[in-house]
Amino acid sequence: MQTDFCKQLGIEAPIFAFTHCRDVVVAVSKAGGIGVLGAVGFSPEQLTEELDWIDAHIGDHIYGVDTAIPQKYEGMDKTSPEELVAMLQEAIPEQHRKFAEKLLADHGVPEWPDKDDDISLSFSAVQAQALIDIALTRPQCRMIINALGTPPDDVIKQVHDSGRLIGALAGRLKHGLAHKAAGLDFVVCQGSEGGGHAGEVTSMILWPQMVDALAPLPVLAAGGIGNGRQMLAAMGMGAAGVWLGSAWLNSEEAHAEPAQRESYMKATSEDTVRSRSFTGKTARMLKNEWTDAWERDDTPDPLPMPLQGYLTFDAVRRTHRYAGAAETQKVAFNPIGQVVGQINSIESCRDIVFRLLSEYADALEHVNAITPQE
Ligand SMILES: Cc1cc2nc3c(=O)[nH]c(=O)nc-3n(C[C@H](O)[C@H](O)[C@H](O)COP(=O)(O)O)c2cc1C
Repeated sequence: MQTDFCKQLGIEAPIFAFTHCRDVVVAVSKAGGIGVLGAVGFSPEQLTEELDWIDAHIGDHIYGVDTAIPQKYEGMDKTSPEELVAMLQEAIPEQHRKFAEKLLADHGVPEWPDKDDDISLSFSAVQAQALIDIALTRPQCRMIINALGTPPDDVIKQVHDSGRLIGALAGRLKHGLAHKAAGLDFVVCQGSEGGGHAGEVTSMILWPQMVDALAPLPVLAAGGIGNGRQMLAAMGMGAAGVWLGSAWLNSEEAHAEPAQRESYMKATSEDTVRSRSFTGKTARMLKNEWTDAWERDDTPDPLPMPLQGYLTFDAVRRTHRYAGAAETQKVAFNPIGQVVGQINSIESCRDIVFRLLSEYADALEHVNAITPQE
């Protein structure tokens, strides 16, 4: 089943896989969809290494790279990484540092072995530009996606001049309209139930509004898709494809720790929350003692992006590295959508792609069977 957008890209199935894991990128692209590597959090050196691996394993298939240049963030005027780091160091209140540190210590999360290790500048233009420059050197990287807001004009031009497509996520109608006005090639419309940064309006409401408002621009439906019935709903509302993030997190190929896999399989769709406690912007994740702690009246409020992300950088890497320690999952960062309630087994990415397509076909047959034919 090929949409026009699939034909434009040269892929067989309209299934887009957002992932931080290179093995998932390769497996989904080889299965007929397209893997998109989430590069936020990678240094330029790490991204180079990941793309080398992907290029060596993906055969003739193509992939995308996702970065994040937020429209507005503290320190936007800083043009060098050193300047930005110095500004961030200065701007984080001691009270916040102590609060975050105490939460980790109270749950016995071991210290990071080398405190002076590299520092994350995720969610800044300084970092994103370096990553985009690297992605554009790779012939099989055919699309760039911006996670937070409309990319700057010079980035759009740079990607277009290189012959590639550029899109961006939108969780609100007005963001989608701004993407279209800026000349993006497609929009990923993410409803509130999706994992990661998510707005308030649910997919069921937002997708058709976005499709109508942006037509004929291709809109990829994201947020709450984990099976073929959900995929059929999205395509029925006019989506040019489906964009899934949560569904791959527990796949065979995903680099997930056993303790993380256990939390995904145990969680119901009621166990996620939209919280600002890790990045400073509202993101959907598994609810736990960390997310609860930042909500209380007697605790500090999360800082704006990218300060909160800079503050919690250590918490994120420690809770991932020591995921299996007794109480780590109570304070770990596990972004995932409400679709987590449907994740009850470990499947290969290929099986997920084929399951989506066969469930889609079954659901379509059902719809046809109950629809009077002329
Ligand atoms: C673990 C995780 C991390 C995410 N990080 C990003 C990101 O860095 N950039 C981005 O564009 N989207 C990110 N997202 C959102 C996904 O791209 C996607 O829109 C979302 O997962 C779709 O909803 P679903 O989780 O219901 O499939 C993330 C999602 C998850 C689950």
